[in-house]
Amino acid sequence: MEVFISRDQIFEKVNDLAAQIKTDYENENPLLVGALKGSFIMMSDLVRALDIPLEVDFLSVSSYGAGTESSGRIELRQDLKTPVENRHVLLVEDIVDTGLTLNFLIEKLQKRNPKSLRVCALLDKPARREVPVSIDYVGFTIPDKFIVGYGLDFDEKYRYLPDICCLED
Ligand code: IMP
Ligand code: MG
Repeated sequence: MEVFISRDQIFEKVNDLAAQIKTDYENENPLLVGALKGSFIMMSDLVRALDIPLEVDFLSVSSYGAGTESSGRIELRQDLKTPVENRHVLLVEDIVDTGLTLNFLIEKLQKRNPKSLRVCALLDKPARREVPVSIDYVGFTIPDKFIVGYGLDFDEKYRYLPDICCLED
C-alpha cells in the first residue's frame, strides 16, 4: 500500500496542532471528546503533545457500515460519560469527509450548553462535503482518496498502520 502521509509528517503536524491548542486552552481544563473509533490514536498523541491539564472522553458514532461511502444515516452508538455543560469542549475527529458526522455531533453537543465548542480534525477532505462545517484546527487537507492507517479503517482493517496510506481501488 502506498504511504500517503508518513508517520514523521503526522508526528510533526500533531505537535503543531497541539502548540496552537495549548495557547488557546491553557488553564481552561478542556474536555477533549474523541469520536470513536477512528480518533483513538490521534487523541493519544494529541493529549501527550498538549501537556496541559485536560480531561478526555469518547463517544461512538457510525455511518459507514462496511463500504467507503457514508450511508448518510448517523447513529450515536455510545454517548459521553462526562457532562458537557459549562465545559470548554474540543471535539477531536480523525477525518471530515461529507461533514455529516461532524454536523450531527456539533448539534448534539451544542444542545448540552458547553462553555465553548471547537473542532480539531487531523484530515479534511473538502471535495466531498455535503453540509458546511467549520473546523477550528485542521491537520492536513487532502484530495478525494480513501485512506487508512493511524486509526482509520476500511471495514475495521488497517487501523494499526503507523503511516496514513492510500487504499487502492
Ligand atoms: P463524514 O460523516 O462523511 O464526514 O465521515 C466521517 C467519518 O467517516 C470519519 O470519522 C471516518 O470514520 C470515516 N471516513 C471518512 N473518510 C474516510 C477515509 O478516507 N478513510 C477512512 N475512514 C473515513
Ligand atoms: Mg471509520
